[in-house]
Amino acid sequence: MSKPLSEQITDIHARLAKPVVLVGMMGAGKSYLGAALASALDLPFCDSDRLIEEKAGCPVAEIFESYGESKFREAERNTIRELIGQGPAVIATGGGALTSPETLELLECQSVMIWLDADLETLWARVQKSQSRPLLMTENPKEKLASLLEQRRDLYVRAHIHQKTGAQNHQNDLDAMIKALYETLNTATV
Ligand code: S3P
Repeated sequence: MSKPLSEQITDIHARLAKPVVLVGMMGAGKSYLGAALASALDLPFCDSDRLIEEKAGCPVAEIFESYGESKFREAERNTIRELIGQGPAVIATGGGALTSPETLELLECQSVMIWLDADLETLWARVQKSQSRPLLMTENPKEKLASLLEQRRDLYVRAHIHQKTGAQNHQNDLDAMIKALYETLNTATV
């Protein structure tokens, strides 16, 4: 029989020496579930996109527009490196963070990475009205979302934990992430 969730949380606390980092596509729920996970585990929460915006003094979309995607990626890489150095916490990343080989390697070695994996229809339902995602400001944003998902799947599978998520109850996703974290910290050398 598995331990009650409260005991799993206590065990996670005792064993966790690295940040827990949520990766996955735009609309996967990284920010929402990341904040919920941090609150359940009583850890600090940070969203790398929000920190980049704070530092730049403008929204992500404006950084893309004024300085280009490669400058944004540079800021993203630096911000994630800085956050990883701050010890146990829950960090939500932007959907393209793993396209930097340096970030991928850093997160593989120095974090417990959770891939929040939602299917295309769920992602699309969540992002279609968004005006804040510069990569989707195209003629056919759904097609773009699908192609980014295809390009990035091989990166996301490198995560230590693969958490399927959908339109259903967020509490189920949260409980499943806690259970997966507990099991991973108990069985694997992450
Ligand atoms: C991006 C995802 C966005 C943001 C930027 C680029 C991407 O974050 O970092 O617009 O490349 O997928 P979310 O995943 O939080 O939407």
